[in-house]
Amino acid sequence: MKRPVGVTVIRQILDSQHMHRQATGDLSGLLTELIVAGKIISAEVNMAGLADVIGVSGKTNIQGEEVQKLDEFANNTIKRRMARSGYICVMTSEEDDDIIPVREGYEGKYSLAFDPMDGSSNIDVNVSIGTIFSIHRRVTQSGQGTQDDLLQPGASLVAAGYIIYGSSTMLVYSTGDGVHGFTLDPSVGEFFLSHPDIRIPEKSKYFSVNEGNYHYWRPEIQKFVNYLKEVDADSGRPYSSRYIGSLVADFHRNLITGGVFLYPSDCRNPAKPKGKLRLLYEAQPLAFLVEQAGGRALNDNGQRILDIQPTQLHERVSLIIGSKGDVDMVEGFLRG
Ligand code: AHG
Ligand code: MN
Ligand code: MN
Repeated sequence: MKRPVGVTVIRQILDSQHMHRQATGDLSGLLTELIVAGKIISAEVNMAGLADVIGVSGKTNIQGEEVQKLDEFANNTIKRRMARSGYICVMTSEEDDDIIPVREGYEGKYSLAFDPMDGSSNIDVNVSIGTIFSIHRRVTQSGQGTQDDLLQPGASLVAAGYIIYGSSTMLVYSTGDGVHGFTLDPSVGEFFLSHPDIRIPEKSKYFSVNEGNYHYWRPEIQKFVNYLKEVDADSGRPYSSRYIGSLVADFHRNLITGGVFLYPSDCRNPAKPKGKLRLLYEAQPLAFLVEQAGGRALNDNGQRILDIQPTQLHERVSLIIGSKGDVDMVEGFLRG
């Protein structure tokens, strides 16, 4: 449905709430609080060159990665706001080893998983970064939530999305009725609908992968990438390579222009046999979005990401995600 320009995100959220008779408004409230956190982070990111949030915090996280100051700022902003929102019973963040409790008496019916600042290695070089979030309905009965409320397959996600802090700040999310994109007008502090009902192009001419890891990939993936680079005009090859190194930025570009992103499992590091990206707050939310937009998301065993049953908060997964036609091609190579 084509909407008039100037539709605010809260209008969109309430409209979709009204479409669900049994809605209590809790999901709307949760998203609204999350969006406030996103605006606060956006203001900080856009000041990053000036304020002293550039650089590392001197800490390392469970992933063994240096924690950037902006990682920490974004993480604390979301944790503090959501802990007292009253809509969630438990949270997990890329930056926290264990589950994060909510304030006593403020337990709600959803659980939240998030990557507060994705692409943080790009903060100091002014490349687009983002916040990724995913929301499940709780499975425990009441009180503080547990890991069980978070370790659910992506197929049962209630909502997911990201905020990309780039040339403009955009919010892209879905509550299961398609994917909608909003652009922040910083002069009024509002997200306005700019990309209604986003559909990812069926086929593309872009592939996005860190080819520096080529020799660590499974042979089928190597064959696929080599195939894309062969010259064959009839099948639109060679594809163009686009790799930013920020998952949110690479994903967002593919969502708009079409393309296939791959972070394959690599045999180099037995500690990360499944690849680098995390299932709960990177692969699952983006897989939910891409399927809502008509695309596909698999791991490099050919398994649908949304069918994977998580067993650990920070478990990693290989990821092949993007235009349906391109992911179908990869699936063909994986099947030999
Ligand atoms: P994060 O900054 O949240 O740790 O995520 C970084 C991820 C992801 O954004 C990106 O796709 C990937 O790291 C890039 O990894 P390589 O530098 O190994 O290509
Ligand atoms: Mn990330
Ligand atoms: Mn991160």
